[in-house]
Amino acid sequence: MGAMMKEALLHMLSENEGEFVSGQEISNKLNCSRTAIWKHISELRNSGYTIEAVQKRGYRLVTSPDLVTAEEVSLYTGNGTFGKKITYKSSVKSTQEIAHSLAREGAPEGSIVLADEQTGGRGRLGRAWQSPAGTGVWMSLILKPNIPLQKAPQLTLLIAVAASKAIEKVAGLEAEIKWPNDILIKGKKTAGILTELQAEADSIHSVIVGIGMNVNQQTEHFSDEIAQIATSLAIEGRQTYKRAEVIGVLLQEIETLYRQYLENGFGVIKLLWEARAFSLGKRITARSVTGSITGYAKGITEEGVLLLEDDRGQVHSIYSADIEI
Ligand code: BTN
Repeated sequence: MGAMMKEALLHMLSENEGEFVSGQEISNKLNCSRTAIWKHISELRNSGYTIEAVQKRGYRLVTSPDLVTAEEVSLYTGNGTFGKKITYKSSVKSTQEIAHSLAREGAPEGSIVLADEQTGGRGRLGRAWQSPAGTGVWMSLILKPNIPLQKAPQLTLLIAVAASKAIEKVAGLEAEIKWPNDILIKGKKTAGILTELQAEADSIHSVIVGIGMNVNQQTEHFSDEIAQIATSLAIEGRQTYKRAEVIGVLLQEIETLYRQYLENGFGVIKLLWEARAFSLGKRITARSVTGSITGYAKGITEEGVLLLEDDRGQVHSIYSADIEI
């Protein structure tokens, strides 16, 4: 109950940002005592919000910190159902692990897990994903689509389109997609997607979509090696961004495309993906555990599988690999 009241209070102050809201108004609207208000104001201040309190005038929100807490993110999630249920942890090993157990316990579609920092963030193909505190978006989203197992890769492409659209909306930067799911700005990786499934036979129980996005890192946050291949919105846009806003926009983009996908199928998503594709039409090398193939990236199939034509004209279907250009 306390957490909900704090969230409602923050909503009132944010809606009137820069203006005073009287204690009386808050207490009427939230149906709580002046003492309770004061307690929540103190808590918000302790979390980094600057709130002015003036006798007879009330409270005024002056600045908000760059947090990804449930109350801050809920200011940006809009009317959709994605992000209605938020689990926030300041530091976790991996948000994927928490989302997996929430999904097993029956968490509804659209539930998200957010962390400020991950100490054991996971990337694709068993790699680690650097997730330092206060810099990026480290989020896991639970989906429960009623689709056959072999169509699951389509969701990764859908999320990649949504992530690149969100970057364009928030930062005005052009974001391209490298198959299947690397989001690049000027050829450097800014975000990655890790799609994991809970399935039985050929039916999907839950899809746990992990999204990592570099938002406010500066070059010095990256090791020399990583700095060659990675970037952030802040480096490319030359300003910092509110991570909660990035999350809100991202969730709205995902939800819109997802509803469209469930209703009309993969066709439109495929077109949107191809329009943003970085590797199509190029000569690439696909490296996987079973070996590597070099050739011409022809396109993606209806299932979201990459088609690669080798020098002998043979076309290979690539399900999972690293792409080099
Ligand atoms: C990749 O490009 O290799 C995918 C990276 C996915 C990282 C995200 S961050 C949130 C979620 N939790 C994890 O441990 N990994 C994903």
